Amino acid sequence: MMTNHTPHADLREFLERCDAAGELVRMKGVHWDLEMGAIAEIVNHKRAEAPAILFEDIPDYPGMRVLSGATNSSKRLAITLGFPEPAHPMDVVQAYRNRMKTFQPIPPREVETGSIFDVVDRDDDVNVLKFPVPKLHELDGGRYIGTHDQVIMRDPDEGWINLGTYRVMVHDEKSVGLWMSPGKQGRQIRQKYTDRGQPTPVLICVGMDPLMFLASGNELKWGLSEYDYAGGHRGAPFETVRSELYGLPMPAHAEIVLEGEIMPGDDKIEGPFGEFTGYYANHPSEQPVVRVRRVYHRKNPILTMASPMRPPSDFNFSKCVMKSGMIWDEIESAGLAGVKGVWVHEAGAARMFNVISIKQAFAGHAKQAGLLAAGCQSGSYMGRYVVVVDDDVDPSDMFDVMWAICTRADPAQDIDIIRRAWSGPLDPIYDSASSTNSRAIIDACRPFERIKNGSFPPVARGSKELIAQVEAKFADVLKKI
Ligand SMILES: Cc1cc2nc3c(=O)[nH]c(=O)nc-3n(C[C@H](O)[C@H](O)[C@H](O)COP(=O)(O)O)c2cc1C
Repeated sequence: MMTNHTPHADLREFLERCDAAGELVRMKGVHWDLEMGAIAEIVNHKRAEAPAILFEDIPDYPGMRVLSGATNSSKRLAITLGFPEPAHPMDVVQAYRNRMKTFQPIPPREVETGSIFDVVDRDDDVNVLKFPVPKLHELDGGRYIGTHDQVIMRDPDEGWINLGTYRVMVHDEKSVGLWMSPGKQGRQIRQKYTDRGQPTPVLICVGMDPLMFLASGNELKWGLSEYDYAGGHRGAPFETVRSELYGLPMPAHAEIVLEGEIMPGDDKIEGPFGEFTGYYANHPSEQPVVRVRRVYHRKNPILTMASPMRPPSDFNFSKCVMKSGMIWDEIESAGLAGVKGVWVHEAGAARMFNVISIKQAFAGHAKQAGLLAAGCQSGSYMGRYVVVVDDDVDPSDMFDVMWAICTRADPAQDIDIIRRAWSGPLDPIYDSASSTNSRAIIDACRPFERIKNGSFPPVARGSKELIAQVEAKFADVLKKI
């Protein structure tokens, strides 16, 4: 067992726990047409670590609900992952990294039935717009049913199950468009079926356990099923049931699952969509269509939503925390010692400005850290800047990090450019000719040789003892300032 807590049984129990922790706000009467997207923006731009929002009494959709921001705070991440209540986001990162030292994936357990079979719509009865699918932003090309989702496919060669969070736009009652970026595992799997001229069987779960969202929305190594990874964090297997058409494993207690297939060559214009970098960078383009033939859902289902936008958004922070833990774990697993902290910044849309702090032990240590962080699986896609700082700099404090860059990195000497790296069309400055981008690795550590020979100047600040002494002596006045 990886955890010492009782895992939540499903999304509903998770919400009860969030409610008890003061992490959930309920809103009534919010319309699917732009209002949910606007509320997500207002709330998450108002303050950091904003609460999750459960939209209830949605006009024209009695009994149905939509959830925004399920995992987007340190406390809710701790509830999701079964960690102790954190005082600081870095506590979650640290807990993640500690758990990963002994982590074992736990495969799902197939059961006969589950609440996902409460209601089953087949063939002619299928209508994905029976749910309050939001149109999130004014310039979006349609209503997006899949944002906080997991798209489930089986690798036809190796048999393992991949789950990925990819956006899903409604074309009409019975068909949806799926946008998977080049290089994503789901896209590679779909390509294998297409190359054989076969349909790709697909499940799209759009109301789900937040732990599955953390697994599906972040890059894991090829061949590791997100079911197994999430089960490992849960400390118990996820229960799955077989889907009617293709026998794919569906989460037994999910809220809503769509089942269908992608036929080779069946493409349709998808987008535009407000994206996580804060732009509409990806122009409308022909993307695979999923023909939906089954809709499974619980009674009074909850559609889960994650609204990408100019950061911060209702999911960006949670990605920062997860990615920080994942990068830390990966670079240590690759053999790097001396890592003291990792922080992936929200301003970089949880991918583009990643900071590693190390206790330098040898010349070249910082470069090794930077290269690993830029190239590891969870840090690679659409990276831009990796900054390596000494352990006296807090990697999560942008002011501290910028001070280190300004005072410890000489641009000509300390910035390396990596060219033709993995990116995608959502990157607003992507090089479409090469389908890649570049990255900068900034070594903002004090030059190691100057630490060794003592020639790097000391930091101009009072010692801890002096500051504490003077603070105590003049406490009366200082506490008023
Ligand atoms: C809210 C959210 C939306 C996302 N939307 C997309 C998307 O539309 N297309 C895409 O390729 N990746 C998207 N991603 C990133 C992928 O989920 C992520 O790269 C994941 O690792 C993909 O799974 P895979 O590695 O199994 O392919 C999104 C992530 C999140 C958290």
